Amino acid sequence: MSLSGNDGRDGFTSKFGILCATAGSAIGLGNIWRFPYVVGENGGGAFLLVYLGFILLLGIPVMLSELVIGRRGQRNTFGAFRKLAPGKPWWIIGVMGIAAAFMILAFYSTIAGWTLEYIVKSFANAFQGQSSESLAEMFREFHTGIFWPLFWQVIFMIMTAWIILAGVKKGIEKYAKILMPFLVGLLLIMAIRSITLPGAMGGLQFLFKPDFSELTAGVFLAALGQAFFSLSIGMGAIITYGSYISKGNNLTTIAAEVSIADTLIAILAGVAIFPAVFAFNLDPAEGPGLIFHVLPSIFQQMPGGYFFAVIFFVLLAIAAVTSSISILEVVVAFVVEELKISRRKATIMSATAALFVGVFCTLSFSSLGNVNIGGLTIFGVLDFTASNILLPLGGLLIVIFVGWVMMAADVKDELSNAGALKIRLYSAFNFIIKFIAPVAIAIIFLNSIGILKI
Ligand code: TRP
Repeated sequence: MSLSGNDGRDGFTSKFGILCATAGSAIGLGNIWRFPYVVGENGGGAFLLVYLGFILLLGIPVMLSELVIGRRGQRNTFGAFRKLAPGKPWWIIGVMGIAAAFMILAFYSTIAGWTLEYIVKSFANAFQGQSSESLAEMFREFHTGIFWPLFWQVIFMIMTAWIILAGVKKGIEKYAKILMPFLVGLLLIMAIRSITLPGAMGGLQFLFKPDFSELTAGVFLAALGQAFFSLSIGMGAIITYGSYISKGNNLTTIAAEVSIADTLIAILAGVAIFPAVFAFNLDPAEGPGLIFHVLPSIFQQMPGGYFFAVIFFVLLAIAAVTSSISILEVVVAFVVEELKISRRKATIMSATAALFVGVFCTLSFSSLGNVNIGGLTIFGVLDFTASNILLPLGGLLIVIFVGWVMMAADVKDELSNAGALKIRLYSAFNFIIKFIAPVAIAIIFLNSIGILKI
């Protein structure tokens, strides 16, 4: 008997599988690559505080709202809104989500491609005996090249499509379950190495000692975008996964557990990175290349660094795949269910289309590097538009949908598994999604474009 129990749709089979798949979506390059460099660019400790506040106040409620919509709708994002609000234009959230999915997948596959190259480099012992300047030069030479970054991007996209082709149980759930737990152990070891380096204190202070003079409107927007990106919320990935969760599971605990795990891992990555940044005199604000400079330097200073480096980059690539599949799944589920195209064709088409956009992103570090759109490169535009605009806007509409459009009885029904669970904190959740979250997101937006000055 299929536990997903819904007109033969594929779905997750166990609570542990759901957690690994959903946490697998949330935990990825966003935690280990994006979080440290965004913290670095936004001044450190004060950003971290704002970020944590957003996770708690906005992130968890939005994630729970997505789970509610998904499991209630039993469809892809677009289909779920059409089913839950027939004849009304809420499906636009689904369309926005699909657009965001293409943009994110495009730059995600660029960066994931870098991690594949770094698997090879660590296998080849390329970091051994190099100064941090020459490690920086090594990275520069690689990522401003053309052939290899594109090659790895294609390989990564094929890996993602491969797992998606296998479906939900046999693909997504199976892979996430085996590999997620390993990553955590390794990050812990690296964090310990990093904080025991001479000169590490400066990094811990940077990360944990807030300097409130650093807080600007842009910092709030960056924290909001990072929170949404890291939790995989605002574009329907969690709606899609929610539709694969069977009725007996407690959505509230899933949202809480996944958000907590995701946040702890981001902080752990910060603790692994910043002490080393300061110990090696690197620039915390140097941008997307940060971990590719810092991590090899850490490995070089570790006994057994060769093996740790290999294992780490393998795990990072896996964490990236368990995330990218959740992005591609948003598009594939839409194409399969709404356009009635086979899963196989849908996967190949969607991955190819994402790859097409992705090539421009990868080349924006080399031959298209001087394409400048409002002061940003192609990579910068894709990342900013998706993470800082589309995701928060999607999140805004999603909470409004659950708070004001869905019937309270239906929402309670999902949260309580038709009355089987006691729902504590419902009134807090309801108040947040009805009032706090929409107002907060709106203020951050208006403030950052300068319409509102706070
Ligand atoms: N959260 C993932 C990460 O941190 C990336 C990701 C997966 C994502 N699915 C998403 C981001 C959906 C936004 C929306 O690496």
